Amino acid sequence: MKSYIIEGGNKLNGEINISGSKNAALPIMAASILNKGITKLYNVPDIHDTKIMLEILQILGCKIKKNSDKIIIDSKGIKQFEIPEQLMREMRSSVIFAGSILGIHKRVKLSYPGGCDIGARPIDLHLKAFKKLGVKIDEESGYINCECEKIVGNDITLDFPSVGATENTILASVLAEGVTIIQNAAMEPEIVDLQNFLNKMGAKVSGAGSKTVVIQGVKKLKDVSYNIMPDRIETGTFLCMTAATGGTVKLNSVVPEHLIPIISKLEECGNELIVEKNSITIKSSRKIKATDIKTMPYPGFPTDMQSIFATMLTIAKGTSIVIENIFENRYKYIPELNRMGAKVTIEGRTAVIKGVKKLNPAIVKCTDLRGGAALVLAGLVAKGKTEINNIEYILRGYEKLDVKLRNLGANIIIKEGE
Ligand code: EPZ
Repeated sequence: MKSYIIEGGNKLNGEINISGSKNAALPIMAASILNKGITKLYNVPDIHDTKIMLEILQILGCKIKKNSDKIIIDSKGIKQFEIPEQLMREMRSSVIFAGSILGIHKRVKLSYPGGCDIGARPIDLHLKAFKKLGVKIDEESGYINCECEKIVGNDITLDFPSVGATENTILASVLAEGVTIIQNAAMEPEIVDLQNFLNKMGAKVSGAGSKTVVIQGVKKLKDVSYNIMPDRIETGTFLCMTAATGGTVKLNSVVPEHLIPIISKLEECGNELIVEKNSITIKSSRKIKATDIKTMPYPGFPTDMQSIFATMLTIAKGTSIVIENIFENRYKYIPELNRMGAKVTIEGRTAVIKGVKKLNPAIVKCTDLRGGAALVLAGLVAKGKTEINNIEYILRGYEKLDVKLRNLGANIIIKEGE
């Protein structure tokens, strides 16, 4: 078990480059098998979750070449149609392989993705969409067998704009016969990145980023090279860390349009933000004003920023209200935060945050990826030594977080566990 040791109290100053988006890279890596050929991906973040995806690709029969952020996937030899149970348990988002394996094999076998630290995270919407595409689904002893003669395009309305269900439905429809129309689709930018990738392969997908996505099935897809979009949640994380510690930081290789709700909320809290084409500079006022946030599907305030933004608000002047509308259990980091002197009470989906003058250093443990990032923010703010355990959660989704923070003047090191 690894830990971060942070000597808090330093302001963050300077500039860093933001890495490629985890949540764009994962579906695009799953989609890479659809051309049964060569896929070259650039700007892939070197994190635990992308390592798991590469492991699954190899188990499915692909050959992988990797150097730094460039990955070459040769899926000519793909033959397996089963997603390994162990890896499914380790990373529930490997369910994203279901759509693309169905697309090429017309069958897929997967185990129920375990719930995770932020909620049950069922896949009923994924399976309902597959059924509408003509897929027969049998569930027995924890496994799900999906099979069909051919995938036939259809009109599908999602009960909820689920990101994963939208992505899986697109992936299953790309090589289908006929046209699939997805209504009430999720509109996240990562879905637009997936559409751009697929169309570069020769697919015919349109409407991603809106509530209605249309996929015209094609027969064959070709080799492709693609550059993954920047990570908007990593960007938001560094913006909040700078706001909380009181410095001035410039973030390069970002897409500001992906962060509109976060930018406006940070300005509302008293920070000055300079937004340019591919960079954002934040000048923290350090005197943070309280505000209220409600997480919503894109383009609303992203649930992945809830814990990080809320932790910045623990030292705001006044009381803030946070409502988490997407996941049912995304406040597990709060008890750890209160051990550092924060004053947060939870009522169901609502967290009430009474601003305090300062946070105190402590020994805390990560409960999930974004909750862990929130504890790092708290450790950067609290003067003195904070130890954050179970940082494997954080290493799943942030590339070289400690290196980037040291480059900005933070005093943070990784302690290898026993
Ligand atoms: C994606 O998860 C992201 N993960 C999550 O980021 C992100 O929080 C989430 O979208 C929402 O934006 C990746 O892209 C790899 P959903 P996903 O399907 O697809 C319910 C991070 O920190 N639901 O939009 O799993 C579900 O339980 C991660 O980077 C069903 O009920 O999210 C949840 O309450 C965390 N049935 C809500 O919808 C289904 O079949 C949103 O889930 C599917 C989802």
